[in-house]
Amino acid sequence: MLCYHPKDGGRGMIKRLFQSKGRPDAKEPAGTSVEAEGVPKHVAIIMDGNGRWAREHGLPRVAGHHTGMNNVREITMAADRLGVKVLTLYAFSTENWKRPKDEVDYLMSLPQEFFPKMIGELEEKNVQVRMMGHRELLPEQTLQTVEEAVKRTESNTGLVLNFAFNYGGRKEILHSVQRLMEEAASGAVRADQLDESLFRQYLLSGDLPDPDLLIRTSGEIRLSNFMLWQLAYAELWFTDVFWPDFTEEHFQRAIHDYQKRVRRYGGL
Ligand code: FPP
Repeated sequence: MLCYHPKDGGRGMIKRLFQSKGRPDAKEPAGTSVEAEGVPKHVAIIMDGNGRWAREHGLPRVAGHHTGMNNVREITMAADRLGVKVLTLYAFSTENWKRPKDEVDYLMSLPQEFFPKMIGELEEKNVQVRMMGHRELLPEQTLQTVEEAVKRTESNTGLVLNFAFNYGGRKEILHSVQRLMEEAASGAVRADQLDESLFRQYLLSGDLPDPDLLIRTSGEIRLSNFMLWQLAYAELWFTDVFWPDFTEEHFQRAIHDYQKRVRRYGGL
């Protein structure tokens, strides 16, 4: 909230008024009050800045990814407490294969550390794990670990924790079109039946609602091929904070800002 203070010698000094517990980080004002009404149902996060976080701490890049992975736990639990229904995390893109092999191998090994450590807590919190991505190219063991977590939690009815893993928005759209063309050729679908609600059934996000809020950390202001169809009407929120430093307070701040936005979907 920005307030004008008349005692500021007429300079119109603006003061930030947040009900925060303090600033965890100088780069971004910290958390603030979140209204129980109007919490975004689906929040998608581009978890960026692990490498720069590591460099700032004099550590190898993989240490940034490891700390980033630990932060997935913190932010998942925060999302659950805040009443978010779906949390989609961009964990590995179809473009990330271009990184050095050592880094790719490390990123591919993270599920094998994360899920065995976390599955008990995820089950206890009634979290349902999903994976949104292309199965091809994923190492057998990685895929098996993720699929096991998906299977074990599939009947849970709480927060949906959706990992975008080996995910690319353009590839997702092309695959959907390919499947539709095949079905059209076989006569299962007619061109005049195609509308948005039919098309979205072919996307990897399946029955999930579109994200209401997209958060990207680390100061980059782009979508990087993430959920290109689904983000059409999302509110976008960017912060300079690197993903390993992104706390529940920053998350609250993003939701607080979201709650002040007016979503018009092209109307008035
Ligand atoms: C982008 O930062 C981050 C990634 C490519 C990986 C994100 C993955 C996690 C946070 C862990 C995921 C956890 C599980 C369980 C799969 P960057 O490396 O591009 O950072 P930089 O731009 O500073 O180099």
